[in-house]
Amino acid sequence: MSTEIDLTGKVAIVTGAGSGLGAGIAKCLAKAGASVALADINFDDARKMSNEIVSEGGKAFAVEADVTNEASVFAMVDEVVKKLGKLDIMCPNAGTCKAGPIESCSAEDWDNMLKINLTGHFYCVKAALKYMKPQKSGKIVMTASQAGRVAVPLLAGYSASKFGVTALTKAVAQEVAKDNIQVNCIGPGIIRTKIWDKILGDLVAAGLGEADALYKSFIDAIPSGREQTPEDIGNAVTFLASDMASEINGDILLINGGQFNCP
Ligand SMILES: NC(=O)c1ccc[n+]([C@@H]2O[C@H](COP(=O)([O-])OP(=O)(O)OC[C@H]3O[C@@H](n4cnc5c(N)ncnc54)[C@H](O)[C@@H]3O)[C@@H](O)[C@H]2O)c1
Repeated sequence: MSTEIDLTGKVAIVTGAGSGLGAGIAKCLAKAGASVALADINFDDARKMSNEIVSEGGKAFAVEADVTNEASVFAMVDEVVKKLGKLDIMCPNAGTCKAGPIESCSAEDWDNMLKINLTGHFYCVKAALKYMKPQKSGKIVMTASQAGRVAVPLLAGYSASKFGVTALTKAVAQEVAKDNIQVNCIGPGIIRTKIWDKILGDLVAAGLGEADALYKSFIDAIPSGREQTPEDIGNAVTFLASDMASEINGDILLINGGQFNCP
């Protein structure tokens, strides 16, 4: 006997799905049978990823959306519901990072992180609830970070935005639990995506070392001894988006190989 997650018939949206973790989440949800809308500000990347999923037999399509724009987020959700009739799973995931000493973080860098990482998630939650509340079901799985559980030096603005996502998760989960909607977030560890290339570039620019050596030092600190993969992250989201997780609400699931001894 085996236990498999089956999301056949479910409709999902993943933001920031044109690359990195978003693409990994979209692939895992599609593999479990869901129809997945891959949303990104970079439509070409989202289309490339959705084509990959379709060529592997999954159900997917691309949507252009800017998560910093409330009207764009509502239009994205309306488009998906118009096309597929409902929304079961919302995965706000798009994000960015400016790393380095706090003095090197400009007001613009700060605003950008808060707008994409936190306000973008807030808009996605509101737009999803427009449909999930009346249908009395839904799963919202946001992408926080282990830096949303433990404050990380040189990532002050990023940590602040991710602590915000954790708080948003916990507060909204309590508001909508009676509507049969579960709201959780994930805390990925370290995956070498475009965001990490940017972080390493910022750290090198701050004179803190050389990119590959810095990256190796971060990986060496992971108890499991390896970096995480987009699939590790996608599998965790698939679990939280399934009915196996129906009594898990308002939590952060760390996928970080045991790093930080997070409380
Ligand atoms: N990579 C890691 O180690 C790691 C660890 C913890 C958390 N995370 C989080 O995972 C999420 C995805 O990051 P990633 O590592 O895949 O980075 P990534 O840079 O590869 O992907 C980010 C995606 O978001 C999209 N995006 C950026 N701004 C957008 C906007 N305004 N509207 C819509 N889409 C937008 C980009 O086009 C890109 O496709 C982020 O929230 C990040 O903070 C990543």
